[in-house]
Amino acid sequence: MNLIKSLTRMLAPAKAAGVFALFAASALAQNAMPVIQISADKVVAKMPPTFYGLMTEEINYAYEGGLYGELIRNRAFKADAIQQPIKPEDYDPAKYYPVKLPHGSAPKFWSTVGAAKISLDTNTPLNTALNVSLKLDVSGASKNSPAGIANGGYWGIPVKPNTTYHASFFAKGKHFNGALTVSLESADGKKVYSQAVISGVSGDWEKFETTLTTGSDLTPSKENRLVISTTKNGTFFNHHGTIWLQQVSLMPPTFKDRPNGNRTDIAQLLDDAHPKFLRFPGGNYVEGDYFNERFNWKETVGPVEQRPGHRSCWGYWSTDGFGLPEYLGWCQDHGMEPVLAVFAGYCLKHDVIPAGPKLEPYVQEALEEIEYVTGDASTKWGAQRVKDGYPNPFKLRYVEIGNEDWFDRSGAYDARFAQFFDAIKAKYPQLKIISTVGYEHPEAQQVHSRTPDLVDEHYYRSEEEMEAQSFVYDARDRSNPTKIFVGEWATRVGSPTPNMAGALGDAAWMCCMERNADIVHMHCYAPLFVNVSDLGTGRSMQWKSDLIGYDALNSYGSPSYYAQKIFSEHQGDEVITVSAQNLPTYTWIQNNRTRNGQVQPPRTNEVKSLFYSATRDSASGKIIVKIVNRADAAQEANVEINGVNSIAAEGTATVLKADNRDATNAINDPKHVVPDTEKVTGLGTSFSRSYPPCSITILELSTK
Ligand code: AHR
Repeated sequence: MNLIKSLTRMLAPAKAAGVFALFAASALAQNAMPVIQISADKVVAKMPPTFYGLMTEEINYAYEGGLYGELIRNRAFKADAIQQPIKPEDYDPAKYYPVKLPHGSAPKFWSTVGAAKISLDTNTPLNTALNVSLKLDVSGASKNSPAGIANGGYWGIPVKPNTTYHASFFAKGKHFNGALTVSLESADGKKVYSQAVISGVSGDWEKFETTLTTGSDLTPSKENRLVISTTKNGTFFNHHGTIWLQQVSLMPPTFKDRPNGNRTDIAQLLDDAHPKFLRFPGGNYVEGDYFNERFNWKETVGPVEQRPGHRSCWGYWSTDGFGLPEYLGWCQDHGMEPVLAVFAGYCLKHDVIPAGPKLEPYVQEALEEIEYVTGDASTKWGAQRVKDGYPNPFKLRYVEIGNEDWFDRSGAYDARFAQFFDAIKAKYPQLKIISTVGYEHPEAQQVHSRTPDLVDEHYYRSEEEMEAQSFVYDARDRSNPTKIFVGEWATRVGSPTPNMAGALGDAAWMCCMERNADIVHMHCYAPLFVNVSDLGTGRSMQWKSDLIGYDALNSYGSPSYYAQKIFSEHQGDEVITVSAQNLPTYTWIQNNRTRNGQVQPPRTNEVKSLFYSATRDSASGKIIVKIVNRADAAQEANVEINGVNSIAAEGTATVLKADNRDATNAINDPKHVVPDTEKVTGLGTSFSRSYPPCSITILELSTK
C-alpha cells in the first residue's frame, strides 16, 4: 500500500504529525454575550446547486462488501491473484496483463461441502479476462452426502423474509451430467431458506441462473451461506466427475431495482441526505499503486463476466463488477451529477509519466472516458454505454485531473495538467477542469500554467484543528479566479465512524464552507463507507472515521452523517451576510508538532467554540441560521437580523446534540445520536437563545 499517504493517514493526521491536544481549560474568552448579525438583504452568493455531494472509492469494502449488491465474496476467484507491478516505461496502457496465482493457492472465501475437493485452475478459463476458475471434484458425492462448495459472503450473507435473490454462475463439466442444487442456507447448513435445482451442465461453459425466494417465517440474519452441490459423482467409474465454476453471483433486490445495482439500505441512507454530485472513482483508487493497477476504466465496462478486475491500492482484489457504468447508475439512482476523476499519469508509489508523447495515450483515455459518459449512441464510447444499459448521455460538468498530485514532487504535475486541460478544453470547452493541487498545502508546488476552474483541497483534521481552521476561507483572496472544490474532508475523531466530536468539527467546517460559497463551490466528506465487520486495520477497514458503517445485514449513519444530512436539507439558495462578535473560545495546546520534519515547540491556541452561517430560501424568504456550540456547557447567544420587515415569533429548530462529545452511533446502536425538530417561539429580528452543550442547531425563520 502507498506508504507516505496511507501509513500517515491510517492514523489521525493530527497524531501522525505528533500532535496531541490538551485542553488547558474550556474557558469562555469573553463574558459579553455572543452576537450573530445577519443582513438578510445582502446576498453574498448564490448557493451552488451542487454544493453538497459524495466522494467515493473502493476502500473499507465500500462497494464489494458494501454498496454493491453482490453477496458472494471472491466470485471470480482472483482474490489471491498476483498483479506484478509494471514500470510506466514498460507498460502498454492498451494491453491487458493477465494475473498469476501463487503456487498451490486455495480458493479464498470458499469452502467445501461433503467430500468435495476444490482448487484454482488457470487452464480452464472462462475467457481471457476471467482466467482463474474454481475446479470442483465431486467424485465423493452420494445421495446421502452431497458434495459442493459454499461461500459465506462478506462476513455473512443477509437473509431476509419474503425476499427474492438472483443466483447465477458459469459452469462446465467433465464426466458430469447430474443436477446442481443451489441453496441459500444457514452457515451450519441446518436451515435451508430456499433452494433451486439446475441441470444441463455440459462440456462447454454456459451461464445458469435461478431465483431463490425466502419465506415469511424467518428472522433476518447474516450467518448464512450459498451452497452449490450435487449428489451425483460423475458418469464413468474411474473418472472423477468435475465441474468448473466462474462468476458465481447472488444478488438481492437492489435500490430502484437497477440491474447489477446497489444494496437498498445503504442507498436509502444516501438518498435521505440528498447528495447532488458524486466524485469518483477516487481518491487513491483512481491512481493505483502502479500503472497497471490504476482505475483502468475500459476494463470496468461491458458485461461483468468480461471484466478482469484489479488489485486495489487499499489491499484487496476488486472484481470491477462495480465499474464505470455502475458509478453512472449510482448517480442516476439519486439524481447526482458525476464529478469524474481521470487517471493523470501518476501513481501512489510515485511512478510518473511526464508531459509529452508518452502521456498522450492517457489523455486520449480520458477523452474517451468523457465520451463514454456524455456521448450519444453515434459515438464509439457512447454506444458502449448504451450497450451497458444507460441509453441517455449523462450531464457532466466537472472533470478532475488525477488525485492529490501535490504528492508528485517531481514537479511534473503542472505540465501534465496542462496537457489534459488543453486536450479536454479543445474537445469539450464547456467542461470545468479541476486541479488536484490546492492552496491547503503551502509546501506543495502551486504553479498552474493553465488556470484551473477549480482546485481540489483536502482536509483531514482533529476536532480542534478543524475548528481552528473554520474561518480560513473568510480570509481567502477573492481576486483568484480559481474556485475551490473541497473534494475530501473529515474531522477524524472516532472509529470506525466519527462520534459527536467529529460531527461538531464537521459542522463548524461546513459553516465555514457555506459562508464562503462564493469561492467554495462544492464539497464532499471522505471516506464515505466502512464495513464494520472486522475492524483490524487491513481487514474490513483500512481507514477510520468513515461516514456510514455497515455489516452484511444492517447499516447506520454516524453523527457526522446526520450533521451533513441536516445541513444538506437546510441549504437555502442564497448565502447572506453574517458576522459575529464576542464569540467564546477555548484553549487548545498543541504539543510536539512536527512540520516539514522539524519538531515545533508547544503552541497555545485560542479556538472559537461557537460557529455559524446564514442562508436564505429566495422563494419563501425563509432565513436559515446554523449555530454550532462545541462547548461542554450551554451557550447563550443573540441573533440580530436586519434587512427584513419582521421575523415571525414561531419557527423551527432542528437540533443534533449529544450528552457528551464521545457519544456515537454504532451497528448495534444506530440511532443513539440523531437530529430532532421542534417548534420554537420567541423569535424576532433580535432574539436570544441558549444553545445546548455539544450541539448543532438549525433555525428556520419565517420573514414577513
Ligand atoms: O479518503 C482516503 C484517502 O485520502 C483518499 O484515497 C486519498 O485521496 C486521500 O489521501
